[in-house]
Amino acid sequence: MRLINGYWATGIVGAAATHALFTHLEAGATTADEVAKLAEISPRGAQTLLDGLVSLGLVELRDGGYRNSPEASAFLVRGRPADLSAFARLKLDHMGGMVDLPEVVRAGGPVADPTTEVADNPHWAEVVPAIAAQSVPVAELAAEELGLAKAGPVSILDVGGGSGIYSAIWLGLNPEARATQLDWAPINALARRLVAERGVGDRFRCVDGDLHTTHFGTAVHDVAVYSHIAHQEGPEENIAILTRLRRALRPGGTLVICDYVVEDDRSGPPFPLVFASEMLLKSGRGGTWRRADYRAWLAEAGFDEVTFRPTPSPATLVLAR
Ligand SMILES: C[S@@+](CC[C@H](N)C(=O)[O-])C[C@H]1O[C@@H](n2cnc3c(N)ncnc32)[C@H](O)[C@@H]1O
Repeated sequence: MRLINGYWATGIVGAAATHALFTHLEAGATTADEVAKLAEISPRGAQTLLDGLVSLGLVELRDGGYRNSPEASAFLVRGRPADLSAFARLKLDHMGGMVDLPEVVRAGGPVADPTTEVADNPHWAEVVPAIAAQSVPVAELAAEELGLAKAGPVSILDVGGGSGIYSAIWLGLNPEARATQLDWAPINALARRLVAERGVGDRFRCVDGDLHTTHFGTAVHDVAVYSHIAHQEGPEENIAILTRLRRALRPGGTLVICDYVVEDDRSGPPFPLVFASEMLLKSGRGGTWRRADYRAWLAEAGFDEVTFRPTPSPATLVLAR
């Protein structure tokens, strides 16, 4: 019953995020009436959302009052560094797309709304700021792994960089580094704003274009990023892009891939396994790929050394040299 009604969770978390319930609880509201007043929603609605959130484990009842769970406090309070509340709101809109899944699995790809192959798709302008928070801990971990803070005047290339979150974090850690992001023009405009807000916009450059066809440069970058792009591409496209990324790197440069990576026997992890259905709905050739796929593609692209690192998110870091 819990799984069959799984959309209840998306609805309740999305509605609570829409009305900043977690933010009001964090600020000290403890009753449904207080939440209703602050959120400007009905007392009946506030009580119903709080009941649902207790059921989901995101809100706890202590001494007769409501409080955020530690997870809600970290990930659903507006303005926190890892705030996913915009993503929770966005997922309410995406929920309806799942009704196509029976037809999509029959067809083997999108039937109504292909997403990833459409140039300048407005979809990205909604998704990109909402997912930026997910990449924060991953970008910090990668910076640590690469010793980026003390790497000197390195050049970074982020392909499909979206919000520019990797550049923002890495340029913040290393005052001598410079970053170039390749993405669609409207997304780059958005990234320029977000990176500038973090005070490092003067070392951030954007190239507008399609990552399948725009030249990445030859032996000009020390670090390249390919984060949450491999899952929208098919194997041949990934090999072609990774080969061009290898060429764009200087000898000894590192490629940082971040994605939902599946075990070779397809036994897990749970998140990457279910994420494949999202790609079936939205892309013609994408999916969640196994470690063995990344190893084979990276070897073909000219990388010798490949390591996999778990991250605090459901994504895995793949570092290739
Ligand atoms: C899922 S988001 C990932 C954003 C970012 N790399 C991250 O990890 O947070 C995918 C990004 O790739 C961009 N993108 C997708 N297909 C593209 C293409 N063919 N050419 C250029 N950019 C593309 C989208 O605009 C979006 O910014």
